[in-house]
Amino acid sequence: MEKIVIEGSQKLSGEVRISGAKNAAVAILPATILAGSACTIKNLPMVKDVTYLRDMLIQMGGKIHIHDNDKITIDTSGISTSKIDLELAKRMRASYYFLGALLSRFKKAEVPFPGGCNIGVRPIDLHIKGLEALGAKIKISHGLIRAAADELRGARIYLDVVSVGATINIMLAACMAKGTTTIENAAKEPYIVDTANFLNALGACIKGAGTDVIKIKGVKSLGGCEHSVIPDQMEAGTYMIAAASTKGDVLIKDIIPTHLDAVSAKLREMGAEVTEYEDSIRVKAPTRLKAVNIKTMPYPGFPTDMQQPMSVLLSVSEGTSIVTESIFESRFKYFDELRRMGAKIKIEGRVAVIEGITKLTGAPIYATDLRAGAAMVVAGLTAEGKTTISNIGYIERGYERLEEKLINLGSKIRRIEDK
Ligand code: EPZ
Repeated sequence: MEKIVIEGSQKLSGEVRISGAKNAAVAILPATILAGSACTIKNLPMVKDVTYLRDMLIQMGGKIHIHDNDKITIDTSGISTSKIDLELAKRMRASYYFLGALLSRFKKAEVPFPGGCNIGVRPIDLHIKGLEALGAKIKISHGLIRAAADELRGARIYLDVVSVGATINIMLAACMAKGTTTIENAAKEPYIVDTANFLNALGACIKGAGTDVIKIKGVKSLGGCEHSVIPDQMEAGTYMIAAASTKGDVLIKDIIPTHLDAVSAKLREMGAEVTEYEDSIRVKAPTRLKAVNIKTMPYPGFPTDMQQPMSVLLSVSEGTSIVTESIFESRFKYFDELRRMGAKIKIEGRVAVIEGITKLTGAPIYATDLRAGAAMVVAGLTAEGKTTISNIGYIERGYERLEEKLINLGSKIRRIEDK
C-alpha cells in the first residue's frame, strides 16, 4: 500500500478538468447487461470501482473494447450467467446494481451482500422491498442475496427513505417488467437522471427521473447505445472546497454548475467568490472564510459526500460551525484524524460543533473512507507543514488522477511506498 505526502499551505490556482461521475458510472456499467448488445460509454472515470465492475463484466462473459482512456465499448450479449464474482463484488457498494440488472435480463440473480465505505449500517431493505413488489422472490443466506421471478410485473412502490441505490435498482428491474412501475419518494440525484437517460437510450421508457415520482413503462426488449457519463459533482465539489481552503483561485471545468448549487451557496455564504459559467465554476477565496452551519440532505440538499471535505474548511474558518449528518450515522470517524492536525471539534451523536482555528498543522493521518480520504487530502493541502495520508486505496476508488490534477494546480503532493 502506498501513502500520499503533501507539503501544505500552497494556494491552489489554475484550471482543473473534472472526470465522469463515479456514482453514475457504477450504475451504468451493470445496466449494460440489460442491453444484451454493445454499448459505448464515454467520459468513464478510470477509478478503482469502475475497474472492478469492468472486471466483473468480463468474468461474466462480457467483451470490452477500450478505445481511449475514458471511452469503452461493452458487449454483454455473451453473458449467460446470473452470478457475479464474489471477491470483487464484496469490495464495493455498487455491486448491488447487478441484482436489478440480472433479474431484469435473466429473471434471476445471485449477488453477495455489498461492501463499500463503512459510514453506517447501510441496509438494503428498500432494494429488496422494491424488487419483491415487482414479483421477485428473494432469499438471503450465507451472505448471498438470491432473487428469482417467473415474471416481473409493474407495481407502485413507495420508498420510506430516499435512497439512490434503491431507486436505481428498481428502475433497472422495472425496465422490461410487464406494465408500469411507479417509484414514489424516489431519489433525485443527477446519477438517477443519468442512469435513466442511459436506459432510455437503450429503448426503455422512463419518465420523471430527477423528480420524486418516476414512472417506468415496461418494454419487451432493449438494445445498445452510445452514452456519455455526466461530470462528477463530488469530485468538482472537492476541488471547489480545496480551492477555498487554500485561499486559492481555481476554475473547475467541464461540469454542470447547477449540480453544485448547494456547495456553491455555502461557499458564498462563507465569503468566497463563486462565479458560474456555462460549464465551469471559478472559486476564489482571498481571505479567511466565515463559519456556517450545514445539514446533509438528499439532492438537491447539501450532499453527505461533501460533509467531510467541507468540515475541513470549517475547521479553519472564523467562528463556530454546526454540522449535522442526517444521512449516514457513522460519517464523523475522520474527525479523530483532523484533531491530530489541531482541529477543535466536539461530536454529539449526529451533530458536530467545529470551532474554527487559524491553521491546521501537518500530521500522519489515515483515510477512514472514500470522502474522508478526500477530506484528508484537503486537510493536507490546507495545513502548515507535511501531511502523510495512509490507507489511500479508498481515495483511488473515487478520484481519477488526483495527484496529477493537484500538481497542475500548484500543490506539492506525491506518492511514496508505505514501508
Ligand atoms: C449512494 O449510496 C452513493 N453510492 C453514496 O456515495 C452516497 O453517499 C449516497 O448514495 C447518498 O447520496 C453510490 O452511488 C454507489 P442511499 P447508497 O441508499 O445508494 C438508507 C461516495 O462516497 N437506506 O441513498 O448506498 C441509508 O441507510 C458514496 O461516493 C435504507 O434505510 O445510499 C441512508 O441512510 C458513499 N434502506 C439513506 O437511506 C435501503 O435499502 C440513503 O442511502 C437503502 C438505503
